[in-house]
Amino acid sequence: MPIVEAHGLTKVFRRPEKEAGLAGALKHLISRRFTDTVAVDHLDLSIEEGEAVAYVGPNGAGKSTTVKLLSGILVPTAGEVRIDDLNPQRHRIAIAHRLGVLFGQRTQLWWDLPVGESLAVLRDIYGVDAATYRKRLDRFDQVLDLGEILPVVGRRLSLGQRMRADLAAALLHGPRIVYLDEPTIGLDLVVKDRVRDFLRTIRDEGTTLMLTSHDLADIEELCQRLVIIDAGRIIFDGDFVAVKDRFARERILHVMVERPVPMEVLRTTLPEAEVAAGKTPLHFSVRFDRFTMTAGQAVNALAELENLVDIRVDEPNIEDVIRRVYSGELVLDETTP
Ligand SMILES: Nc1ncnc2c1ncn2[C@@H]1O[C@H](COP(=O)(O)OP(=O)(O)OP(=O)(O)O)[C@@H](O)[C@H]1O
Ligand SMILES: [Mg+2]
Repeated sequence: MPIVEAHGLTKVFRRPEKEAGLAGALKHLISRRFTDTVAVDHLDLSIEEGEAVAYVGPNGAGKSTTVKLLSGILVPTAGEVRIDDLNPQRHRIAIAHRLGVLFGQRTQLWWDLPVGESLAVLRDIYGVDAATYRKRLDRFDQVLDLGEILPVVGRRLSLGQRMRADLAAALLHGPRIVYLDEPTIGLDLVVKDRVRDFLRTIRDEGTTLMLTSHDLADIEELCQRLVIIDAGRIIFDGDFVAVKDRFARERILHVMVERPVPMEVLRTTLPEAEVAAGKTPLHFSVRFDRFTMTAGQAVNALAELENLVDIRVDEPNIEDVIRRVYSGELVLDETTP
């Protein structure tokens, strides 16, 4: 039984089409024209307990809207959401206890309260007992250095501090499911790393994660499953590794030899590949399509030169693959149900 399920999930935003000025407003009263934006379009998604799912797509694809629908913040125009087999609208309180949500773009803390007091309010709302509360705060302090920001008033927090405080707020009640919508946006590399480490620990403890980010390194380290959304529709749902294997056709070998080898010899040795000179006469690179030649075949051909010192294979770059998917250059036709 999946812990998060969506069937035919659809959200249409309706905006009044108004012309500027008073005349426009009056005209709108009479004619009532609207523009509809289909933000999420018949989306089917199911997430098993303990899974860590990366949810990516270009700006405006519908990621945040999906997260809001899956947490019951927004009511769907059509379709259905079940969280732990409950309807998030009908079972608000039960869902709130199971769910932690973080929106990197806006805070859920009280602007005028010190962070410590915001957390205490949440503790009371969720009925977290004193011992558990202390234990969790200790833990947040260890991984997120929360102690130093507890006395700071919400509006005085730096972005990195705010995000750490918001993470603590989202996780204080020990939710089994956590949605993170751009949890590392605007953070420096050190804080990013810590947030990532922290998320890895809660994932390893069995928390179900759904993570939205434009930083693919973030999610590649945390998530095994990748869901790509574009214009409100899921265009890929599968293994992170599978995307690379399937769509990054290009492989590059970086080779170092003992004695320089003339380019013509290399080109004859590897007629199918593209050979390029490297940083010294002893270095060169071999670029090939792995559907034409395997890395093994390329290495074997190079071994015949009896001159090899070192070979390194470049891993396909996921950022690059996803960018090409967004731009329509690569078509991911293989969605898994
Ligand atoms: N409250 C709203 N009213 C009207 N339109 C909205 C509203 N919220 C989102 N939209 C529209 O719905 C579409 C999807 O927006 P959404 O915020 O879900 O995208 P996103 O994938 O999260 O993008 P980003 O990467 O920029 O955060 C966009 O066209 C957006 O303009
Ligand atoms: Mg968004």
